[in-house]
Amino acid sequence: MAVRRIGVRHVDMNEVAGYQVEWVSESGSTNADLLAAARRGPDTNRVLVADYQSAGRGRRGRTWDAAPESSLLFSVLTRPEIPVAVAHLVTTALALGALEACDSLAGVRPGLKWPNDLVVEDRKLAGVLAESVVAGDRLEAVVVGMGLNVRTGAAPSEVADTAVALEDLCGSAVDRRELLASVLTRFAYWMNQIEAAAGQAELVDSARQESATLGRRVSVELSDGSVLEGLAEDLDGQGALILEGGVRVVEGDVVHLRSD
Ligand code: BTN
Repeated sequence: MAVRRIGVRHVDMNEVAGYQVEWVSESGSTNADLLAAARRGPDTNRVLVADYQSAGRGRRGRTWDAAPESSLLFSVLTRPEIPVAVAHLVTTALALGALEACDSLAGVRPGLKWPNDLVVEDRKLAGVLAESVVAGDRLEAVVVGMGLNVRTGAAPSEVADTAVALEDLCGSAVDRRELLASVLTRFAYWMNQIEAAAGQAELVDSARQESATLGRRVSVELSDGSVLEGLAEDLDGQGALILEGGVRVVEGDVVHLRSD
């Protein structure tokens, strides 16, 4: 890969699986940078990777911190032709793509904690944050970002005791560039699928098979602060979580409860 140096900030450009990849040493937040690009112009299929983020964003307004070069921190700007109602399937596409990449590259197959965390024995390996640009009822763009803990000490401070890193799981060094290429290749496959109903069904079916949540008792904190508790029974065709009694959850923070 060619490296161009611009002052102290190195920028590395490449194309992977149809995505234009820009790798920088530092960003405030790769999600924020690509959201700004999405609002500015027609860019699409862009990936921004940062060795370090000074203002990394997590879900529900949380921060996402990771030591420099310890994680794979990246976002993808994409413009899928899908209704706003299923825009969240883009996050599932990225989570599944990363799950498959961890398996093929490191021999580690994490589970999918609903909605889109990658976990191993209930410890978080990666988190996904999607942010959309919507005009009227049209989905203009989705920026989906992932923080994947690669090296020990990568864990964001707020989840340090419940997180795990890929190298600790596989016991050997993992090249972040190879990992990214593998994630993007699988993500491209799933993005292609989600523009058709049959492909959406295939994605949700895979999410069911890889789920670490289904069959567990969970508590779910909804966006209004209320909490539901029950057995996680299924995902519906749109990827929503179905709790026992048919309670449908579209958005929320899940805790897997102990079964004993
Ligand atoms: C979560 O809360 O679990 C989601 C975390 C998502 C973090 C990633 S790191 C790369 C991208 N840029 C950000 O600012 N956030 C996402």
